[in-house]
Amino acid sequence: MGARLRLVTDRTTAPAPPPPEPLLGEEPGPGAARCLTLYAKLTAGVSVVTAAGAGGPLGMTVSAVTSLSARPPLLLVCLRDGSRTLTAVRAHRAFAVHLLREEQQDLATRFASPTTPAAERFAGTELRHVLGVPVLAGALAWSVCLTEDVRRYGDHHLVVGRIAAVHVGGGRPLLWHDRRFRSLTERFPDGPG
Ligand SMILES: Cc1cc2nc3c(=O)[nH]c(=O)nc-3n(C[C@H](O)[C@H](O)[C@H](O)COP(=O)(O)O)c2cc1C
Repeated sequence: MGARLRLVTDRTTAPAPPPPEPLLGEEPGPGAARCLTLYAKLTAGVSVVTAAGAGGPLGMTVSAVTSLSARPPLLLVCLRDGSRTLTAVRAHRAFAVHLLREEQQDLATRFASPTTPAAERFAGTELRHVLGVPVLAGALAWSVCLTEDVRRYGDHHLVVGRIAAVHVGGGRPLLWHDRRFRSLTERFPDGPG
């Protein structure tokens, strides 16, 4: 009798089955603003990515540049959704990456300004074309890439380029850290953590 009662009780209080594991994309995260404070702590070289646009050369400042592969030689750049340069990179299937020298902060600022038209960004800078792509003179190093793959991730596009031409010059790199331009020789105190 006792055993039968226990059986009934067990059935009514049985725990509900566990909820399914959340997919990665649905997991509540710390939020974009918090993540941006983390991204600011990444230290990167500053580059300008250029491409041939329908109405002339286009270009933008980019810190998200990474070497991806040596065999075959591949570079990776991340370009924001809606960027004019990205449109040209896709349409022309080629682009150039210029690693800037520490003296080229003005150039980096100009190529990042959303209100500066393309023609003004290039004004006063010596330009030539390699494989149909506009190449700026005076960079620390540059490469011309053939667009291998463009894939959207969130609000940016991951662009993979196969390196078709390379030039390595001299000088020291311009860096970007904590939302400021830096150079290798600079010393600065730790910010609030
Ligand atoms: C130091 C620095 C680094 C930047 N890095 C990137 C980047 O990696 N990817 C990106 O899409 N925009 C980056 N930007 C912002 C672009 O340069 C900016 O949005 C530019 O106006 C885009 O130009 P476009 O729309 O004419 O192509 C960066 C800006 C600065 C100042």
